[in-house]
Amino acid sequence: MEKTRDLTERTQALKTPDPVRAKSQRAKGKWLARQRMEYLLDEGSFQELDLMVQSQCADFGLSEKNLPGDGVITGFGKINGRDVCAFSQDFTVLGGALGLAHAKKICKIMDLAVENGVPVIGICDSGGARIQEGVDSLGGYAEIFYRNVQASGRVPQITAILGPCAGGAVYSPAMTDFVFMVEGSSYMFITGPEVVKAATGETTDFEKLGGAAVHSRVSGVCHFVAGSEPDCFRQIRSLLDYLPQNCFQTAPRRATRDPQTRLSPRLQSLSEGDPKKPYPVQSVVREIADEGEFLEAHKNFAPNLVTGFIRLNGRSIGVVANNSQHLSGALDIAASEKGGRFVRFCDAFNIPLLTLVDVPGYWPGLEQERGGIIRHGAQLLYAYCEATVPKVTVILRKAYGGAYDVMGSKHIRADFNFAWPSAQIAVMGPQGAVNILYAKEIRQSKDPERALGEKLKQYADHFTTPYIAAKRGYIDEVIAARQTRMKVIRAFDFLANKKTSAPEKKHGNIPL
Ligand code: HXC
Repeated sequence: MEKTRDLTERTQALKTPDPVRAKSQRAKGKWLARQRMEYLLDEGSFQELDLMVQSQCADFGLSEKNLPGDGVITGFGKINGRDVCAFSQDFTVLGGALGLAHAKKICKIMDLAVENGVPVIGICDSGGARIQEGVDSLGGYAEIFYRNVQASGRVPQITAILGPCAGGAVYSPAMTDFVFMVEGSSYMFITGPEVVKAATGETTDFEKLGGAAVHSRVSGVCHFVAGSEPDCFRQIRSLLDYLPQNCFQTAPRRATRDPQTRLSPRLQSLSEGDPKKPYPVQSVVREIADEGEFLEAHKNFAPNLVTGFIRLNGRSIGVVANNSQHLSGALDIAASEKGGRFVRFCDAFNIPLLTLVDVPGYWPGLEQERGGIIRHGAQLLYAYCEATVPKVTVILRKAYGGAYDVMGSKHIRADFNFAWPSAQIAVMGPQGAVNILYAKEIRQSKDPERALGEKLKQYADHFTTPYIAAKRGYIDEVIAARQTRMKVIRAFDFLANKKTSAPEKKHGNIPL
């Protein structure tokens, strides 16, 4: 090709990809790679890099193919006025498969993100390692994996899965902080249905193997589900609003008109109502939050533990709350993993933690014990013990057994612990305790039913109250439920300049 001294080559490279492939992409309800990038970022803010980069591989006829940008668009731009780095894989170019040049473009953007302390967002639509490039594509992925880990805890890493993603195209996202999927067009699997059939004989399809429903409800790989691509980009933009740019900063504070001293009659009636009646804890979170706004993360996975972001007096706060509507709010394997990862994310990025406790304990049973509830339950415990961000805990109703200790108790260094008068802090619920302590005595009594009733009442009167813990200083104050918002705001305001350091070591060994 003749050397050009104008922008013709550049203009050529910016042209819409192969029209047939572009049409097929659109027919699947999917957007094109550059279009996605432009919608994600603030209008006119996208600065593309490496547009002209091409594959150097000539094997399997690759040199005869036109592979614009080697199948990925990379650059930086702004989201709600703040800088981010981003990449968007182009499925119309060899199914977005990753070759060496493609990998180098992503690595460059990741390095820029870490060096400049800005979040990195990956839009993935890729068949994984590019088969034609062999070990170069495997090596390319490994370079990305390595950077994912170096960036972890330094800058927020966010992934949008916007097509069928396989192999390396799912391992890298799994190491990022939050994964978004779109219903009906996003898929994640190590190997596709055809390889599964060949290897195991199982017949399956994209949806059952790795659709948004599977990964948001069952595997827990996906944190946010969107109804469409624009909806996905809107959700990413609002999540970023709650996050700092990097681990050395705090999240931006937003002005609020919601009075700090706003009282909540709804919380008051909840605390005075039937202590056994389940309720959606999200409504409690919204009552406390500025303007009632709550961005729930990992909503469909382990719904017995709710996690997400609110603002209190304009400050971004991570919330962890037991949800009595599912498994009575008990902690099981999935909830422990979900909570542990969320607590560690907040701690890494200086987002204070509010814990709302209503927990009857760890979920018992053969399946849980064999599945490793001991190990997984310890992950949540470990995460809380390790976290040095400001931590405020409110016990709403039950706080039984080990789950009392785990859910942000004073003993594992929560800064302020409040309890509603309806709080019940005990080693276990009355029924279990009385059975263990008095089974023989009750059996031998003349009227076992009455004896049981008396013992239950005795136990409940003594233990199912916050006052014993308050008298020992484990609860800083028993508060009226209606005052929860003002109490937690006051506490977090006081803690805004908290300084504490973790003991010196290389890193801990969380029970993975
Ligand atoms: C090269 C690939 C490719 C790949 C897809 N294509 N995956 N080219 N390397 N890995 C090409 C196809 O040949 C096709 O090209 C085009 O992309 C579109 O693919 P289709 O199969 O027609 O699309 P679709 O039916 O939507 O299926 C998408 C898919 C499927 C599910 C991603 O292509 C697939 O299963 N690909 C292989 C997935 C895989 O096993 N990857 C693992 C790689 S190993 P033409 O020209 O025909 O249109 C890996 C390991 C990394 O990633 C390290 C991990 C630790």
